[in-house]
Amino acid sequence: ARPPILAIDGPAGAGKSTVTRLCAQQLGLKYLDTGAMYRAITWLVLQSQIKLDDQLAIADLVSQSDIKLQLDANPDHPPRVWVQQQDVTDTIRSPEVTQSVSAIAAQSAVRQALVRQQRILGQSGGLAAEGRDIGTQVFPAAGLKIFLTASSLERARRRHKDLEQQGAAPISLEQLEQQIAQRDQKDSQRSLSPLCKAYDAIEIDTDGLSIAVVTDQIVQHYRNRF
Ligand code: C5P
Repeated sequence: ARPPILAIDGPAGAGKSTVTRLCAQQLGLKYLDTGAMYRAITWLVLQSQIKLDDQLAIADLVSQSDIKLQLDANPDHPPRVWVQQQDVTDTIRSPEVTQSVSAIAAQSAVRQALVRQQRILGQSGGLAAEGRDIGTQVFPAAGLKIFLTASSLERARRRHKDLEQQGAAPISLEQLEQQIAQRDQKDSQRSLSPLCKAYDAIEIDTDGLSIAVVTDQIVQHYRNRF
């Protein structure tokens, strides 16, 4: 039988991506980065010069979009992502996409199309999936649900370090903390599938915990269960 799904949700910068990739690798699961799919659609919208609030045009665009994701986990790199056969792996992480993604992810046509694709990917094998609504909406019957959190300052610090390592344009810690707080607020307060902990998720506050320790805790929970 295919292995049970591991669902990891939480706010921006809680360490979900690295931890989920490591868990996937250690547990022999495929890795599904659902945020990358919302980012890919956002990139397509920006590229097409459609206004962020033009829901009809965006619905049309998403219905014709062809997103492909690398599903084998690589702990050192985000997954490769293609839209309409173009490699957008790096561009979907740009500040422009990051600033606009929450507005796109709040739209029902976008969520319906992407959740459907995510469920299809879940049918074919055990997944470690990360996002905002995996445990609540996409895979409510997931075998193990984790909700990762960290204080907004800690999350801003981690993002700051990431950006520095990427050699991205410098931005102050305060500014970054503010941007992260804004995105969380939009993601938590939208009416459709807002970011929230599933009632049966295990919450891990990662402040002061290393990636290795958090990964290990999740892998242990999974192995104890299955
Ligand atoms: O995880 P990441 O920061 O790449 O996600 C980018 C954005 O995509 C989030 O801020 C959120 O607006 C949206 N998202 C979502 N549901 C998911 C995953 C991401 O709404 N399952």
